[in-house]
Amino acid sequence: MDLEDYLAPLPQNLSGATALVTGASSGIGLATACQLAAEGVQLKLVARRAERLQDIQQALQARFQVQVDILAVDLVRPESWDALSRAGFDQVDILINNAGLALGREPVASSDFADWQRMLDLNVTTAFEMVRRVLPGMLARGRGDIVCVGSIAGQIAYEGGAIYCASKHALRAFCQSLRYETCGQNVRVLLVSPGMVETEFSQVRFGSAEAASAVYAGMQPLTPANIAQAMLQALQQPRHVNWDELVILASDQGGVSKVVRRSADAG
Ligand SMILES: NC(=O)c1ccc[n+]([C@@H]2O[C@H](COP(=O)([O-])OP(=O)(O)OC[C@H]3O[C@@H](n4cnc5c(N)ncnc54)[C@H](OP(=O)(O)O)[C@@H]3O)[C@@H](O)[C@H]2O)c1
Repeated sequence: MDLEDYLAPLPQNLSGATALVTGASSGIGLATACQLAAEGVQLKLVARRAERLQDIQQALQARFQVQVDILAVDLVRPESWDALSRAGFDQVDILINNAGLALGREPVASSDFADWQRMLDLNVTTAFEMVRRVLPGMLARGRGDIVCVGSIAGQIAYEGGAIYCASKHALRAFCQSLRYETCGQNVRVLLVSPGMVETEFSQVRFGSAEAASAVYAGMQPLTPANIAQAMLQALQQPRHVNWDELVILASDQGGVSKVVRRSADAG
Protein backbone atom coordinates (compact mmCIF):
# COMPACT_ATOMS: atom_id res chain seq x y z
CA MET A 1 0.00 0.00 0.00
CA ASP A 2 1.24 3.53 -0.80
CA LEU A 3 1.11 5.61 2.38
CA GLU A 4 2.33 8.91 0.84
CA ASP A 5 -1.13 10.56 0.73
CA TYR A 6 -1.67 9.81 4.41
CA LEU A 7 1.53 11.30 5.77
CA ALA A 8 1.53 14.90 7.05
CA PRO A 9 2.51 17.37 4.32
CA LEU A 10 5.74 19.30 4.79
CA PRO A 11 5.27 22.73 6.44
CA GLN A 12 4.89 25.54 3.90
CA ASN A 13 7.96 27.71 3.59
CA LEU A 14 7.26 31.23 4.93
CA SER A 15 10.67 32.64 4.06
CA GLY A 16 10.45 36.02 2.31
CA ALA A 17 6.88 36.70 3.45
CA THR A 18 6.19 39.92 5.38
CA ALA A 19 4.25 40.13 8.63
CA LEU A 20 2.80 42.98 10.67
CA VAL A 21 2.78 42.13 14.38
CA THR A 22 0.90 44.47 16.72
CA GLY A 23 1.83 44.40 20.39
CA ALA A 24 5.28 43.08 19.50
CA SER A 25 7.17 44.51 22.47
CA SER A 26 6.29 41.71 24.90
CA GLY A 27 4.46 38.45 25.50
CA ILE A 28 2.66 36.66 22.68
CA GLY A 29 3.47 39.31 20.08
CA LEU A 30 7.19 39.19 20.82
CA ALA A 31 7.27 35.37 20.78
CA THR A 32 5.43 35.35 17.45
CA ALA A 33 7.86 37.88 16.00
CA CYS A 34 10.78 35.66 17.10
CA GLN A 35 9.32 32.50 15.62
CA LEU A 36 8.40 34.20 12.34
CA ALA A 37 11.89 35.71 12.10
CA ALA A 38 13.38 32.25 12.64
CA GLU A 39 11.43 31.15 9.53
CA GLY A 40 12.82 34.03 7.46
CA VAL A 41 9.74 36.28 7.61
CA GLN A 42 10.41 40.04 7.23
CA LEU A 43 8.80 41.88 10.11
CA LYS A 44 6.95 45.10 10.77
CA LEU A 45 6.57 45.48 14.52
CA VAL A 46 4.30 47.90 16.35
CA ALA A 47 3.92 48.80 20.04
CA ARG A 48 4.25 51.93 22.16
CA ARG A 49 7.64 51.29 23.85
CA ALA A 50 10.23 52.56 21.38
CA GLU A 51 13.34 51.39 23.24
CA ARG A 52 12.03 47.87 23.60
CA LEU A 53 11.19 47.75 19.92
CA GLN A 54 14.69 48.94 19.05
CA ASP A 55 16.28 46.22 21.22
CA ILE A 56 14.02 43.59 19.65
CA GLN A 57 14.80 44.86 16.14
CA GLN A 58 18.55 44.63 16.75
CA ALA A 59 18.36 41.19 18.35
CA LEU A 60 16.17 39.71 15.61
CA GLN A 61 18.19 41.19 12.75
CA ALA A 62 21.46 39.98 14.28
CA ARG A 63 20.24 36.49 14.97
CA PHE A 64 18.03 35.73 11.96
CA GLN A 65 19.28 38.16 9.26
CA VAL A 66 15.77 39.32 8.42
CA GLN A 67 14.55 42.85 7.76
CA VAL A 68 12.78 44.21 10.85
CA ASP A 69 10.99 47.57 10.67
CA ILE A 70 9.53 49.12 13.80
CA LEU A 71 6.94 51.77 14.56
CA ALA A 72 6.43 53.03 18.11
CA VAL A 73 2.87 54.34 18.26
CA ASP A 74 -0.15 54.20 20.50
CA LEU A 75 -2.53 52.13 18.41
CA VAL A 76 -5.68 53.52 19.98
CA ARG A 77 -4.96 56.90 18.38
CA PRO A 78 -6.43 57.14 14.87
CA GLU A 79 -3.43 59.18 13.67
CA SER A 80 -1.30 56.06 14.37
CA TRP A 81 -3.28 54.09 11.80
CA ASP A 82 -2.37 56.65 9.14
CA ALA A 83 1.28 56.60 10.26
CA LEU A 84 1.20 52.83 9.92
CA SER A 85 -0.17 53.06 6.38
CA ARG A 86 2.29 55.82 5.39
CA ALA A 87 5.14 53.55 6.52
CA GLY A 88 3.79 50.73 4.33
CA PHE A 89 3.04 48.57 7.38
CA ASP A 90 -0.36 47.70 5.90
CA GLN A 91 1.15 45.97 2.84
CA VAL A 92 1.92 42.56 4.33
CA ASP A 93 1.28 38.87 3.70
CA ILE A 94 0.51 38.12 7.35
CA LEU A 95 -1.20 40.17 10.06
CA ILE A 96 -0.70 39.09 13.67
CA ASN A 97 -3.49 41.16 15.22
CA ASN A 98 -2.35 40.76 18.79
CA ALA A 99 -2.21 44.06 20.75
CA GLY A 100 -4.80 43.89 23.51
CA LEU A 101 -5.31 44.30 27.22
CA ALA A 102 -7.59 43.70 30.19
CA LEU A 103 -7.99 46.15 33.05
CA GLY A 104 -9.30 45.15 36.48
CA ARG A 105 -11.74 42.49 37.71
CA GLU A 106 -14.41 44.79 39.12
CA PRO A 107 -18.10 44.03 38.60
CA VAL A 108 -19.83 46.28 36.08
CA ALA A 109 -21.58 48.32 38.80
CA SER A 110 -18.30 49.53 40.29
CA SER A 111 -16.11 49.48 37.19
CA ASP A 112 -14.28 52.44 35.75
CA PHE A 113 -15.60 53.86 32.49
CA ALA A 114 -12.11 54.98 31.43
CA ASP A 115 -10.97 51.33 31.68
CA TRP A 116 -13.89 50.23 29.51
CA GLN A 117 -12.89 52.73 26.88
CA ARG A 118 -9.25 51.65 26.83
CA MET A 119 -10.21 47.98 26.45
CA LEU A 120 -12.79 48.61 23.75
CA ASP A 121 -10.57 51.08 21.88
CA LEU A 122 -7.66 48.62 21.65
CA ASN A 123 -9.28 45.16 21.66
CA VAL A 124 -12.18 46.07 19.40
CA THR A 125 -11.82 49.28 17.38
CA THR A 126 -8.07 49.04 16.78
CA ALA A 127 -8.13 45.29 16.13
CA PHE A 128 -10.92 45.75 13.56
CA GLU A 129 -9.15 48.72 11.98
CA MET A 130 -5.90 46.77 11.58
CA VAL A 131 -7.82 44.29 9.44
CA ARG A 132 -9.45 47.07 7.41
CA ARG A 133 -5.97 48.48 6.73
CA VAL A 134 -4.31 45.26 5.55
CA LEU A 135 -7.19 43.42 3.87
CA PRO A 136 -7.56 45.44 0.63
CA GLY A 137 -3.90 44.79 -0.24
CA MET A 138 -4.23 41.09 0.54
CA LEU A 139 -7.31 40.79 -1.65
CA ALA A 140 -5.63 42.72 -4.49
CA ARG A 141 -2.56 40.45 -4.30
CA GLY A 142 -4.75 37.35 -3.97
CA ARG A 143 -3.03 36.09 -0.85
CA GLY A 144 -2.95 36.76 2.87
CA ASP A 145 -3.25 35.44 6.40
CA ILE A 146 -5.01 37.28 9.21
CA VAL A 147 -4.35 35.90 12.67
CA CYS A 148 -6.34 37.52 15.48
CA VAL A 149 -5.49 36.90 19.10
CA GLY A 150 -8.73 36.38 20.98
CA SER A 151 -9.10 34.66 24.33
CA ILE A 152 -10.96 31.91 26.12
CA ALA A 153 -12.85 34.98 27.45
CA GLY A 154 -14.19 35.34 23.90
CA GLN A 155 -15.70 31.85 24.12
CA ILE A 156 -17.13 31.93 27.64
CA ALA A 157 -17.66 35.02 29.79
CA TYR A 158 -16.73 35.16 33.48
CA GLU A 159 -17.61 37.24 36.52
CA GLY A 160 -15.63 40.44 36.87
CA GLY A 161 -14.58 40.50 33.24
CA ALA A 162 -17.63 41.83 31.44
CA ILE A 163 -15.92 44.37 29.21
CA TYR A 164 -12.84 42.27 28.41
CA CYS A 165 -15.04 39.22 27.69
CA ALA A 166 -17.36 41.35 25.55
CA SER A 167 -14.39 42.73 23.61
CA LYS A 168 -13.06 39.26 22.82
CA HIS A 169 -16.54 37.98 21.94
CA ALA A 170 -16.76 40.92 19.52
CA LEU A 171 -13.44 39.95 17.95
CA ARG A 172 -14.67 36.39 17.52
CA ALA A 173 -17.83 37.57 15.76
CA PHE A 174 -15.74 39.87 13.55
CA CYS A 175 -13.52 36.92 12.53
CA GLN A 176 -16.56 34.81 11.70
CA SER A 177 -17.94 37.51 9.37
CA LEU A 178 -14.52 38.00 7.86
CA ARG A 179 -14.22 34.33 6.96
CA TYR A 180 -17.45 34.52 4.96
CA GLU A 181 -16.18 37.60 3.17
CA THR A 182 -12.72 36.27 2.35
CA CYS A 183 -13.28 32.59 1.68
CA GLY A 184 -12.34 31.47 -1.80
CA GLN A 185 -9.96 34.44 -2.17
CA ASN A 186 -6.86 32.83 -0.67
CA VAL A 187 -7.07 35.00 2.45
CA ARG A 188 -7.21 32.84 5.55
CA VAL A 189 -8.61 34.07 8.88
CA LEU A 190 -7.53 32.39 12.10
CA LEU A 191 -8.66 33.23 15.62
CA VAL A 192 -6.33 31.99 18.37
CA SER A 193 -7.98 31.95 21.78
CA PRO A 194 -5.55 31.28 24.62
CA GLY A 195 -6.27 30.61 28.26
CA MET A 196 -3.71 31.58 30.90
CA VAL A 197 -0.40 32.68 29.38
CA GLU A 198 2.31 34.19 31.58
CA THR A 199 3.14 37.56 30.01
CA GLU A 200 2.85 41.18 31.14
CA PHE A 201 -0.93 40.80 30.67
CA SER A 202 -1.79 40.27 34.37
CA GLN A 203 0.65 42.97 35.43
CA VAL A 204 -1.16 45.42 33.18
CA ARG A 205 -4.52 44.14 34.40
CA PHE A 206 -3.82 44.30 38.14
CA GLY A 207 -1.15 46.98 38.20
CA SER A 208 1.65 45.12 40.01
CA ALA A 209 4.04 42.21 39.52
CA GLU A 210 2.96 40.80 42.88
CA ALA A 211 -0.72 40.66 41.99
CA ALA A 212 0.20 39.20 38.61
CA SER A 213 2.28 36.38 40.07
CA ALA A 214 -0.66 35.37 42.30
CA VAL A 215 -2.64 34.66 39.11
CA TYR A 216 -0.25 31.87 38.17
CA ALA A 217 0.59 30.60 41.67
CA GLY A 218 0.75 26.82 41.99
CA MET A 219 -0.17 26.12 38.36
CA GLN A 220 1.82 25.90 35.15
CA PRO A 221 0.61 28.56 32.72
CA LEU A 222 1.23 28.57 28.98
CA THR A 223 4.25 30.47 27.71
CA PRO A 224 4.02 33.04 24.91
CA ALA A 225 6.16 30.66 22.83
CA ASN A 226 3.45 27.96 23.15
CA ILE A 227 0.93 30.28 21.49
CA ALA A 228 3.39 31.55 18.90
CA GLN A 229 4.26 27.98 17.91
CA ALA A 230 0.60 27.15 17.30
CA MET A 231 0.19 30.27 15.14
CA LEU A 232 3.30 29.37 13.18
CA GLN A 233 2.05 25.84 12.57
CA ALA A 234 -1.30 27.22 11.39
CA LEU A 235 0.48 29.55 8.96
CA GLN A 236 2.62 26.67 7.68
CA GLN A 237 -0.40 24.62 6.64
CA PRO A 238 -0.98 24.16 2.90
CA ARG A 239 -2.98 27.07 1.45
CA HIS A 240 -6.20 25.06 1.20
CA VAL A 241 -6.18 24.44 4.98
CA ASN A 242 -7.49 27.10 7.39
CA TRP A 243 -7.28 26.25 11.06
CA ASP A 244 -10.12 28.73 11.59
CA GLU A 245 -10.15 28.80 15.39
CA LEU A 246 -7.77 27.47 18.02
CA VAL A 247 -8.52 27.35 21.75
CA ILE A 248 -5.33 26.66 23.69
CA LEU A 249 -5.39 26.11 27.44
CA ALA A 250 -2.75 25.16 29.98
CA SER A 251 -3.22 21.55 31.07
CA ASP A 252 -3.87 22.91 34.57
CA GLN A 253 -6.79 25.04 33.32
CA GLY A 254 -10.08 23.19 32.84
CA GLY A 255 -11.92 26.24 31.47
CA VAL A 256 -12.53 29.83 32.54
CA SER A 257 -13.70 28.77 35.99
CA LYS A 258 -11.33 25.94 36.93
CA VAL A 259 -7.59 26.04 37.56
CA VAL A 260 -5.74 23.30 39.42
CA ARG A 261 -3.16 24.73 41.83
CA ARG A 262 -0.72 22.50 43.62
CA SER A 263 1.20 24.62 46.11
CA ALA A 264 -0.08 25.50 49.58
CA ASP A 265 0.30 29.23 48.86
CA ALA A 266 -1.74 28.98 45.67
CA GLY A 267 -3.69 32.19 46.45
N1 LIG B 1 -1.72 36.49 28.72
C1 LIG B 1 -2.87 35.87 28.72
O1 LIG B 1 -3.20 35.11 29.65
C2 LIG B 1 -3.82 36.03 27.56
C3 LIG B 1 -4.89 35.14 27.45
C4 LIG B 1 -5.77 35.26 26.39
C5 LIG B 1 -5.58 36.25 25.45
N2 LIG B 1 -4.55 37.12 25.59
C6 LIG B 1 -4.42 38.16 24.54
O2 LIG B 1 -3.12 38.10 23.99
C7 LIG B 1 -2.79 39.38 23.42
C8 LIG B 1 -1.37 39.73 23.82
O3 LIG B 1 -1.30 39.87 25.22
P1 LIG B 1 -0.07 39.36 26.07
O4 LIG B 1 -0.57 38.33 26.99
O5 LIG B 1 1.10 39.05 25.22
O6 LIG B 1 0.17 40.69 26.96
P2 LIG B 1 1.35 41.73 27.06
O7 LIG B 1 2.64 41.04 27.36
O8 LIG B 1 0.87 42.79 27.98
O9 LIG B 1 1.46 42.32 25.57
C9 LIG B 1 0.59 43.29 25.07
C10 LIG B 1 1.25 43.99 23.90
O10 LIG B 1 0.34 44.98 23.39
C11 LIG B 1 1.03 46.21 23.30
N3 LIG B 1 0.10 47.31 23.49
C12 LIG B 1 -0.72 47.53 24.56
N4 LIG B 1 -1.39 48.67 24.41
C13 LIG B 1 -1.02 49.18 23.20
C14 LIG B 1 -1.38 50.34 22.49
N5 LIG B 1 -2.28 51.23 22.95
N6 LIG B 1 -0.77 50.58 21.29
C15 LIG B 1 0.13 49.71 20.81
N7 LIG B 1 0.49 48.58 21.44
C16 LIG B 1 -0.07 48.33 22.63
C17 LIG B 1 2.08 46.16 24.39
O11 LIG B 1 3.18 46.99 24.07
P3 LIG B 1 3.47 48.46 24.65
O12 LIG B 1 3.12 48.44 26.10
O13 LIG B 1 4.93 48.64 24.36
O14 LIG B 1 2.59 49.35 23.84
C18 LIG B 1 2.52 44.71 24.29
O15 LIG B 1 3.46 44.56 23.26
C19 LIG B 1 -3.87 40.34 23.90
O16 LIG B 1 -4.78 40.57 22.84
C20 LIG B 1 -4.55 39.59 25.03
O17 LIG B 1 -5.91 39.96 25.19
C21 LIG B 1 -3.66 37.03 26.60
